[in-house]
Amino acid sequence: QAVKLRSRRPWPRAGAGSRIVARAGGYKVAILGAAGGIGQPLSLLIKMSPLVSALHLYDIVDVEGVTADLGHCNTPAKVVGFTGQEDLAGCLAGADVVVIPAGVPRKPGMTRDDLFSINAGIVKELVEAVADHAPGSLIHIISNPVNSTVPIAAELLKQKGVYDPRKLFGVTTLDVVRANTFVAEKKNLPLADVDVPVVGGHAGATILPLLSKARPKTSFTDEEVEELTARIQNAGTEVVEAKAGGGSATLSMAYAAARFIEASLRGLDGDGDVYECSYVPSQAAVPELPFFASRVKLGRDGVEEVVAAELRGLTHFEARALEALKPQLKASIDKGVAYAQQQP
Ligand code: NAI
Repeated sequence: QAVKLRSRRPWPRAGAGSRIVARAGGYKVAILGAAGGIGQPLSLLIKMSPLVSALHLYDIVDVEGVTADLGHCNTPAKVVGFTGQEDLAGCLAGADVVVIPAGVPRKPGMTRDDLFSINAGIVKELVEAVADHAPGSLIHIISNPVNSTVPIAAELLKQKGVYDPRKLFGVTTLDVVRANTFVAEKKNLPLADVDVPVVGGHAGATILPLLSKARPKTSFTDEEVEELTARIQNAGTEVVEAKAGGGSATLSMAYAAARFIEASLRGLDGDGDVYECSYVPSQAAVPELPFFASRVKLGRDGVEEVVAAELRGLTHFEARALEALKPQLKASIDKGVAYAQQQP
């Protein structure tokens, strides 16, 4: 049953202290899987956003406590909890952005693809509800394997007649966050200045950091390129192993997802200069791959432009890695599409 908790405190003015002025009323963000390892810290970070006026939390367990806890923070977003499938409609109604971190995480020894059999069904159930109750929203998919869950979502939205490819995103921001951190550490650069585009997909060798396009312009030895690329590709596994059965990245993932949500909201709000990397349905970058992570410009209707030019002028190493990832990424896309097409 629904858990609807409202604070009676007057809210601070939305947008205070931010260079972005929120539209009247702010934005409504729904998080599906909000009581999980990612969902909880992500909900906290979004509760802190001056762009958000309503934060709807959905999970099949434990959402009541998370909602009560977050509802005591004196920031503008009004937190409302929902649990149970019959409450999905209320959770999603009027949402501007729907974020999906629901699903099981990896344990040591597992690949992201090992999660397919469980998470495909969870994503299906949730995306179908989004199609029914929030068809115009931006959809951010975090649930792994992202390389397949985003194609599943696209197919289901098509089947429901509400597919808008500009509004569907696989969240790959954590790959960028990691790349920025590792490059800054390696080259002793100020963290805030470093920006490394990461393209391709979100699993193993499909994660392709373009170190030659890093800003500020930085030179790397061949050994550094190999070492940094491997570390960025395996960073998720680094965390899975360190947690030793306790799950995968949750805190850094929440941080990265919050950054991507904030960027999307700034795009919706009309800020004309918002760019992030994301796994999106577009063949602009690589014609033979219907889904590919690229740097995209975010605007009032989601993706305004895919910055395909970033794939020009790659180094030999990057060009070879791009060719090598194509079959793996294509297989993951096909697997997702086939799954969705087999559904009754
Ligand atoms: P978790 O197990 O801690 O939390 C998952 C939450 O989803 C739980 O609260 C669970 O009750 C909920 N859930 C399960 N079925 C649901 C349903 N049908 N409807 C609503 N909620 C449901 O897992 P964690 O660590 O939060 O990871 C979640 C997902 O995010 C995993 O698939 C993981 O692989 C993925 N992930 C993605 C990353 C990325 O970069 N895109 C990075 C790290 C994790």
